[in-house]
Amino acid sequence: MKIQGLPLTEVAQQFGTPVYVYDGEKIVTQIENLKTGFAKAPLKIKYAVKALTNVSILKLMKSQGVGVDAVSIEEVRLCMHAGYAASEIMYTPNCVSFEEIQEAVELGCMINLDNLVMLRKFGQEYGGKIPVALRINPHIMAGGNSKISVGHIHSKFGISILQLDQILEVVEEFGISVNGLHVHTGSDIMDADVFLRGARVLFDSAKNFPDLRFLDFGGGFKVPYKPDDVQTDMVKVGEEVSAAFNEFCESYGRSLELWIEPGKYLVSAAGYLLVSANVVKDTPEITFVGVDSGLNHLIRPMFYKAYHQVENISGEGRDTKRYDVVGYICETDTLAASRELAEVETGDVLVLKNAGAYAYSMASNYNSRLRPAEVLVWKGKAHLIRKREEFEDLLRNQVVFEF
Ligand code: LLP
Repeated sequence: MKIQGLPLTEVAQQFGTPVYVYDGEKIVTQIENLKTGFAKAPLKIKYAVKALTNVSILKLMKSQGVGVDAVSIEEVRLCMHAGYAASEIMYTPNCVSFEEIQEAVELGCMINLDNLVMLRKFGQEYGGKIPVALRINPHIMAGGNSKISVGHIHSKFGISILQLDQILEVVEEFGISVNGLHVHTGSDIMDADVFLRGARVLFDSAKNFPDLRFLDFGGGFKVPYKPDDVQTDMVKVGEEVSAAFNEFCESYGRSLELWIEPGKYLVSAAGYLLVSANVVKDTPEITFVGVDSGLNHLIRPMFYKAYHQVENISGEGRDTKRYDVVGYICETDTLAASRELAEVETGDVLVLKNAGAYAYSMASNYNSRLRPAEVLVWKGKAHLIRKREEFEDLLRNQVVFEF
C-alpha cells in the first residue's frame, strides 16, 4: 500500500511503529472538493482544528487559504503559532469561563457564543464594540451516532431556537452587534437533508439581525469508514445549500459569506495509523492479533463503536484468515473485530485507515504508554512532524513528594 508512491512499509521502517501518517495531497483534494461543491457561493472554509491539531497540518490548511474554528484558548494559541492571524480564527467555546472568552477577545479572535448567560455578560462588558456570532441550537436530530449528535433539544450546545425572543432582548438591551449565526448539528451526518434544514433555521432567524456578515453551517459531512458506507455528496449538498443561501441573501438585501467548519471531511481519510503485530494468539474461539497500540492511540472504536478498515501491509500475497485486532492496553481494546486479513506473523505492519480525524487528537497516555510519532507525506516524501513521546514526557509535570 502506497501514499503518493511511497510504500507505507517503508515509512514504518524509517520512523518505527506506532506512527500516524498523513497524506497531504488527500487533504488538498478534499479542500478542492469543497470549493467545487460550493463554487456558486462566497465560501469560507473554517477547518475544525479539534480533528487534528498538529501545527504542520494547520500550516498546510493556511497555505490552502483555509481558516480555522477553535474551541479552546489552547487551540487558538496553536493556530496562532501556526501563523494564523487571530482575526482568521473563529472561537466557538462551550461551557468555558467568561475569562477565557475575554482572553480570546483580547487576542482579536472572532467570537461565537452558545449561551444566553455569556451573551448577557458579553453585552455588559463590551456593548456593541466587539461583534459576536451566535450558535443556534436548531433542534434537529442529525441521525447516526447519538454521542456525536449535538443539535437536538437535549444537547448542551447552542442557544435554543425557542429562546430567540430572549436573544433579541439581550441584544437590544446592550446594543450588541451580531455579525454571524451558526449551526452545527453533529458529526457523521447520514442524511444530507439535515444541512438544508439547519440552513433554513438560520435563514428564518437571520431576518432579526441586521448586522450579519456571515452564516456558518458548521461541519459534520460524512466520510466513508467502510467501503460501502454512505458519504455526503459534497457537490449536491454544496449546490443545494448555495442556491438556498443565495436566495436568502437576496431577500436579506445584502450579500453575506457562507461558512462551513469541516473536520472529518478534510482529514479523516488522509490519516493512517501504522502498528506492528506483537503477538498472534489463538484461543478456542478467536485468533487475536495484539498490536503495539490500543485505545490510548485510537479510542474511536471503543468510544463510538467506530469501524476502521485494517490491512496487513506486510502480508501481501498470503492466504487470508479471520482475526480480532486488539491493543496492548489492560482493557478490552478491540480496534477491529472479526476481520479477514492476510495471514499475520509477528512483526508484520498493520494499517488502520481513517485515522486522520479525532485519532491523534484524542490520544492519551493511559497505561503510561507514550503517544506515537506523526509523519506527513508531502510531494512524495515523508517528513516527521511530531516526535514520538519519550519516558521523560511522562514525568515532565509531576511534582514528586518525598516521604
Ligand atoms: N464545528 C463544531 C462546532 C463542532 O463541534 C465540530 C465537531 C465540527 C465543526 C466538525 O465536525 P466534523 O466535520 O469533524 O464532523 N470525536 C468524534 C467527533 C466529535 C465532533 C465534535 N465536534 C468522532 O471521532 O467521531
